[in-house]
Amino acid sequence: MGASNEEDFTVRHAVPADVPALDAAIARIDEETEFLSLPGEYMRRWAPGFAERLKAMAEKGTGAYALAEHDGEIVGFLGAFAGPLARTRGVIYIAHVGVRQTWRGRGVGAALFAAIEEWARAQDAWRLDLRVDTQNARGLALYRKHGFVIEGRVVDGACTHGVWRDHFLMAKALRPPAEPGWAPLELAPGGDWEGEGAPVLRGLRAADAAKLRAFQLKLVSETPFLLMGPGDVPDEATMAKTLAEGLEEPGASTWWLSSRRRTASASSATPLPHEKCRRACSTMPT
Ligand SMILES: CC(C)(COP(=O)(O)OP(=O)(O)OC[C@H]1O[C@@H](n2cnc3c(N)ncnc32)[C@H](O)[C@@H]1OP(=O)(O)O)[C@@H](O)C(=O)NCCC(=O)NCCS
Repeated sequence: MGASNEEDFTVRHAVPADVPALDAAIARIDEETEFLSLPGEYMRRWAPGFAERLKAMAEKGTGAYALAEHDGEIVGFLGAFAGPLARTRGVIYIAHVGVRQTWRGRGVGAALFAAIEEWARAQDAWRLDLRVDTQNARGLALYRKHGFVIEGRVVDGACTHGVWRDHFLMAKALRPPAEPGWAPLELAPGGDWEGEGAPVLRGLRAADAAKLRAFQLKLVSETPFLLMGPGDVPDEATMAKTLAEGLEEPGASTWWLSSRRRTASASSATPLPHEKCRRACSTMPT
């Protein structure tokens, strides 16, 4: 990433030693806008372990943070992540970008985007993705100017101060789009259900790791349409760890289609998370 110098600020890659100052800057910027996380949410949810994740991302080329500095103080940041699967590795998602209030409209955002695009191209990425509130005029102006186009609209994409907000999905192609290089695919007709009794939904448990892994391997071998390939299915220990951590997340719920016979305890009336949000627009627990 080349350092840029406009209006007396510089842009560079963040390194693990930057994390305390970067955490503080992100938390501060969150307090200065309603287009990013709620105040306090970043420090509670994402800051723990950030230095380790940043190091791992730099080693594997799976993500990067660019930061803008003025007089040694961070005035802006941008975090981008490569797709998690082999087939999506070249799709870079710009997960969050923010500039201190007093520095907005002075080219910091443009310099951060130029830096992250340079990094993405060096990774052989083929597109940049982002998501933006339809009312975020400054963000939209910046993204359009940088070559992003609107590809879709997410209705009720967020709930802010009790109001539903729509988002645009925007993207920038880093190389000419390619037609699919395959003949039309056809799936084999579905077979009979092999399990015992009617399938039921139940909450996923950490102890399901081995069964879930076997299921995923079978699934990816049966269809060419999934993004996940066999090489993306984690080993059993990694899957057990991810499951255990994910299930500890507040509000986490993953559902598992079980072949076991329906029992009284399995037919829970617990609403799915999106149903809760549909009923009333209120901030979800984080
Ligand atoms: C969105 C954000 C990252 C952009 O960074 P920035 O440093 O302000 O952007 P820049 O100064 O490089 O460019 C902003 C562009 O928008 C234009 N702009 C500024 N205010 C605008 C407005 N109200 N309406 C339309 N365009 C506007 C600027 O003129 C500039 O375009 P120009 O270079 O042609 O003059 C920054 O404003 C920010 O942090 N906002 C709050 C958090 C946020 O919205 N994050 C993005 C979530 S998707």
